[in-house]
Amino acid sequence: MKPKVYVTRLIPEAPLKKLAENCDYRIWEGELPVPRDVLLREAPAVDALLSLLTDKIDGAVMDAAPKLRVISNMAVGFDNVDVREATKRKIMVCNTPEVLTDTTADFAFALLLAAARRVVEGERVVRAGKWKTWGPMILLGQDVHHATLGIVGLGRIGAEVAKRAKGFDMRIIYYDAIIRPDLEKTLGTEFRDLRTLLAESDFVTIHCPLLPETYHLIGEEQFKLMKKTAILVNSARGPIVDPKALYNALRNRQIAYAALDVTEPEPIPMDDPLLALENIVIVPHIASASVATRTKMATMAVENLLAGVKGEKPPYIVNPEVLGCQPGSVGLSTRKCWASRPTPEPTRRSQIATVGSAIQS
Ligand code: DGY
Repeated sequence: MKPKVYVTRLIPEAPLKKLAENCDYRIWEGELPVPRDVLLREAPAVDALLSLLTDKIDGAVMDAAPKLRVISNMAVGFDNVDVREATKRKIMVCNTPEVLTDTTADFAFALLLAAARRVVEGERVVRAGKWKTWGPMILLGQDVHHATLGIVGLGRIGAEVAKRAKGFDMRIIYYDAIIRPDLEKTLGTEFRDLRTLLAESDFVTIHCPLLPETYHLIGEEQFKLMKKTAILVNSARGPIVDPKALYNALRNRQIAYAALDVTEPEPIPMDDPLLALENIVIVPHIASASVATRTKMATMAVENLLAGVKGEKPPYIVNPEVLGCQPGSVGLSTRKCWASRPTPEPTRRSQIATVGSAIQS
């Protein structure tokens, strides 16, 4: 008997074919995320789930799925999965790191450039028929080259952003729960505590995991520390930045600009005040959205799933302790580091505390 799998959205054809060769699968083909009641109805039959970051896979879903052995999330981030609950039930949780690192770093840099040079505003001017002439004072932005870039979270993606920044002759500083002398050497980055990083940076780009400890890591106090000319880029997870504080900071020109690939909540409601501001660029969580990368992510999600249902160790498992292996580096150890970050600020607890897993930055 082939293992039974539920796939929560249409994925690229080749990995889906591979899944079909090895499993009996059912799929949610809707454009929007699978409704909760459908997921709960499908759950009792399944040995494995191929899920997306838009699906909340919590204890209730796991309770409804007594045969569930693998949750294979097609994303590097897995804050949508309650890993603690999965581990309690000996369910493997898998993610898709590495294949999206370059694509996501490219996009973070695209956002940074778009904000610095006001690309989206310029486009709006042209389409609105407001391009009357070349003007010495029109749409002046900020130089990226030779500016200071502050990277919050020097994991895989943060390090790739640093590489790109080197090409722009930027001065690169970083803040992370873990000091990285190896990367300091190869990338020429310097560690700063968060307060100092915020004060020194012309651009701040976020690449840390979403954890209870990083929820609203950038809020009112942090915006006060930033330069008035600073630009904030977030392509990690929306809730790392407090949206109300961001709105006030942009509106009061406490910082100059923001560029977001991620928001809190997602999708951003059309009446969100951030959408009324000119000095922000917002795109719909597309940093990893290239044809090649999404195919690789789906392929990896299928490979993880197939290994897991065969009882083998999946290539990327978040909670290897369910297989009797050492806990993964992106699990609790990373959480502890961010919790004890060397910044004298209060740790903020959040609604996500119960989900409490990471995106591997
Ligand atoms: C991820 O993988 O976590 C990204 O946010 C989507 O690619």
